[in-house]
Amino acid sequence: MPASNTDLHDTNKYYILTYGCQMNVRDSEIIAGLLEGMGYIAADAPENAGIILFNTCSVRHSAENKVYGKLGEIMVLKRKNPETLIAFGGCMAQLPQVREKLKKSGVDVVFGTHNIHELPHLIATARAGKQPVYQVWEREGMMVEPMPSQRRSGLSAYVNIMYGCNNFCSYCIVPYTRGRERSRHPQDIVKELEEIASQGYQEVTLLGQNVNSYGHGLEKDVDFADLLEMASAVEGIERIRFTTSHPKDMSDKLINAVAVLPKVCEHIHVPLQAGSNEVLRRMNRHYTREHYLELTHKIRQHIPGVAITSDLIVGFPGETEEDFLDTLDMVKKVRFEAAFTFMYSPRSGTRAAGWEEQLGLEEKKERLQRLNQVQYQIATEINQSMQDSIKEVLVEGPSKTNPVKLTARTRTNQIVIFSGPKDLIGQLINVRITEARTFSLFGEVV
Ligand code: SAH
Ligand code: SF4
Ligand code: F3S
Repeated sequence: MPASNTDLHDTNKYYILTYGCQMNVRDSEIIAGLLEGMGYIAADAPENAGIILFNTCSVRHSAENKVYGKLGEIMVLKRKNPETLIAFGGCMAQLPQVREKLKKSGVDVVFGTHNIHELPHLIATARAGKQPVYQVWEREGMMVEPMPSQRRSGLSAYVNIMYGCNNFCSYCIVPYTRGRERSRHPQDIVKELEEIASQGYQEVTLLGQNVNSYGHGLEKDVDFADLLEMASAVEGIERIRFTTSHPKDMSDKLINAVAVLPKVCEHIHVPLQAGSNEVLRRMNRHYTREHYLELTHKIRQHIPGVAITSDLIVGFPGETEEDFLDTLDMVKKVRFEAAFTFMYSPRSGTRAAGWEEQLGLEEKKERLQRLNQVQYQIATEINQSMQDSIKEVLVEGPSKTNPVKLTARTRTNQIVIFSGPKDLIGQLINVRITEARTFSLFGEVV
């Protein structure tokens, strides 16, 4: 067996293709940990791997399409090396209609989001039996603690604090693919934080679909603000981030915790989704535009320099031009530092997918374009107002777009690109912002 992770096909190497959100990125680290526990080593490209795994996302049609496209490509590789094992997991695998399609695809192992820990057994069974193994749990089981994991970056780590979602927003597939909400025990989370701190990680992002409802169902009376305090006490962790917040569950206690705990970064991702009360009601979001305005006003008042970011959907079934203008109006009022914007995509099995008043693609595209225009203008203005200011950044590594430069992140999660020696990587330093664009800032070391 070759000791190093270089070229050439090798049955003992694995390659993971990860799609979707941070939860999947984290799950892929766990999958990598499980595979390395079995003796596999990471391949640098799928064509060199003896086992190729898909960790998929079904949040929008486009996400699923990307996966199907890649699966076609990977199957060409399998034809060249028939002993290559293809495993398919993640959110798509939870959906019966996807599993039905996969039956004709030649995939060897199908596993779901709830039984990742079974993967070694499933792989061994598929290898031994030389026939496909489909094992997906319809429902979440007990949380398995701890899980092995092979984290990728050496600096910034994702840590799950809860799994699943109980909100059932009418457009969203996630509650169907990730099951009901359950929180990890705070002591398990703190133990994991201590572990990553001892490995040199300085930054952590605490992950959950709705972190504001952390703690429900635990014997101990502990909420997310308490958890932030416990995380802050872990020595070596210098920055704490979290995502995602739900506007209906964001408490004053949490806003205060972000304001007073120095390690907790001033960035709150709190998706608005839509600006019209009627659309919000039909989305099952349980808040109004007035509530959201009041909330974000409070956040800005209590947390100086905070960045508020959002997710926005255009073209929800029945969205009128007037509803859409309400979204634009909210974007102008709140002035998000950044926002992810999406065209509504009907997801089979969700409530809104069955509604009659679906909008056409052209109309959705046109609204998305208008929304992006407004949002990008605001982001550019906000970035320009940072010109000449001095920001503390964590230096992450060489810039992806210009590898002779370094890339770093502000506490508000903005990327700053600047020149400097490589030994700055991993350090918290101050930079002066010299140039501002819509999606990134440029700076110099001070
Ligand atoms: N739990 C998080 C994120 C869920 S998925 C939250 O509640 O905010 C990330 C984003 O994808 C959502 O915030 C939403 O804006 C978007 N999204 C989810 N379902 C979608 C759909 N069917 N069509 C378009 N966008 C969708
Ligand atoms: Fe989906 Fe809503 Fe749950 Fe977020 S809160 S994961 S948008 S159902
Ligand atoms: Fe996609 Fe599943 Fe995340 S549907 S967005 S990978 S929870």
